[in-house]
Amino acid sequence: MALVPMTELLAKAEAGKYAVGAFNANNMEIVQAIAMAAEKEKAPVIMQASQGAIKYAGLDYIIGMVKIAAESTRVPIALHLDHGTSFEQVVRCIRGGFSSVMFDGSQLPLEENIRITKKVVEIARPINVSVEAELGKIGGTEDDISVKESLFTDPYEAEVFVKETGVDALAVAIGTAHGQYKGEPKLDFERLKKIRELVNIPIVLHGSSGVPDEAITKAISLGVRKVNIDTNIREAFVARLRQEIENNPAEIDPRKLLGPGRDAAVELIREKIRLFGSSGKA
Ligand code: G3H
Ligand code: 13P
Ligand code: ZN
Repeated sequence: MALVPMTELLAKAEAGKYAVGAFNANNMEIVQAIAMAAEKEKAPVIMQASQGAIKYAGLDYIIGMVKIAAESTRVPIALHLDHGTSFEQVVRCIRGGFSSVMFDGSQLPLEENIRITKKVVEIARPINVSVEAELGKIGGTEDDISVKESLFTDPYEAEVFVKETGVDALAVAIGTAHGQYKGEPKLDFERLKKIRELVNIPIVLHGSSGVPDEAITKAISLGVRKVNIDTNIREAFVARLRQEIENNPAEIDPRKLLGPGRDAAVELIREKIRLFGSSGKA
């Protein structure tokens, strides 16, 4: 089927109290793995393109691959810009056919984040493109843990931000980080609860790879409706690829090495879909 707006998927997730997996699409094998996993689980999914993915594959390739994946499967798929860096990039993605965009103004002063996010909503809403924004700083696992809590999302600020901008989904900083964790991440569930009390839109959890399953389940019970996974896919893909290369040092056909990597990604994504409760919800 054709690409669908992310809000459609998240509204159903809200009604059914589950979350939709947002998986980072970095190359053809991963795009195929996400589509295969979604089809096998009969689940809605979000395929998202990060800045790194756009740089690596090129925006046109990503759009082409994801559109073909969506058209050749029977499950609803949204194509989403992950951590969009500017209004101009958002416009480029919408023109190219993205059904959802994130404008990440979390590094900007609050007023500036509100101003640009609002502008994005103004152009996206009339054409049924969904908008995600970020408040608080999520960062990477390499960032200094001691300064982290001061960077978490302020629930009262979130309330004002959502009212002023009219965004469809909000990414929050509650203790997760992008990349591989060194220890076990501790999520601030009280903060999440408070945010959800004040903000009546789907909440997005970034940096979800490596977060224990029970913490993911609890976050979903408290209003998280989109769960972002990238690192776990990379790990599964590359671990199998490495194994294949080691077991078959003379193999020169990339398809024979990348295919098993893709299979490993399918399995990982299926497990995540089941964990998020979106299996059978297509
Ligand atoms: O949001 C961050 C992604 O997980 C990784 O981003 O592809 O730009 O390295 P990247
Ligand atoms: P991880 O790589 O930690 O899973 O984070 C993904 C993410 O949040 C993409 O926006
Ligand atoms: Zn992220």
